[in-house]
Amino acid sequence: MRIMIVKNYNEMSYQAAQLIADQIIYKKNSVLGLATGSTPIGMYKELIRKFQKGELDFSQVVTFNLDEYYGLSIEHPQSYGFFMWNILFRHINLKRENVHLLNGVTKNIDNECRQYEDLIQKNGGIDLQILGIGDNGHIGFNEPDISFDTQTHLVNLTTKTIRANSRFFNNTQEVPKQAITMGIGTIMRAKKIILLANGKRKTKAIERTINSPITTKVPATVLQLHKEVTIIIDKAASSLLASDGNIFFN
Ligand code: GLP
Repeated sequence: MRIMIVKNYNEMSYQAAQLIADQIIYKKNSVLGLATGSTPIGMYKELIRKFQKGELDFSQVVTFNLDEYYGLSIEHPQSYGFFMWNILFRHINLKRENVHLLNGVTKNIDNECRQYEDLIQKNGGIDLQILGIGDNGHIGFNEPDISFDTQTHLVNLTTKTIRANSRFFNNTQEVPKQAITMGIGTIMRAKKIILLANGKRKTKAIERTINSPITTKVPATVLQLHKEVTIIIDKAASSLLASDGNIFFN
């Protein structure tokens, strides 16, 4: 694991966008795995800025989003599909056919999940996967105790996640109780992974991700087994980490 501790949210966003830009410059038709949540918003803004300055071309880039609430269609303002179009896709020159989102209102979940996995494979696998992290250490929507070999699947959200994510809805009742997510197996097959976290709320999850023994109780600990993981965190999220040789301060 490469761990970068940066001074604040803006620096985290900038560093992450720079790594994505490097990936796209290295391979024009890179396959990106994208995350939602408040954490990557600054990174997406930075990617848009790079595109507007003519530094980045997304015309051959392929994207797969990590997850989607089950029961929300892309027209729903809290759906992750809606979020992605609003925050990133409509501002850059990605081709519509290269954007892949899970359909939260599919009638056939098994089929949806299988097709998503097949499409990832057909596109040569994910080159670079972006991840945020839940307060309980979940990645995508893979909640504690979900086995590490899962593929794209339907999950029940924990009360903790429903409560944490209710800040985007009018009330807790409105938060969907299930989601479709790439599995941990899917995520671990990505060639490279970047995990982002900022703020005090994430300190425990980050400390466990890096220092705890690998356990399904803290899904993100599985990343310790991946060869190409970069964790970019701000000072606040890193406050429980002891400084050692693995940690870069920017
Ligand atoms: C959701 C998403 C995760 C995301 C997490 C953290 O649960 N499924 O992919 O990492 O929220 O969100 P935030 O970045 O808003 O803290």
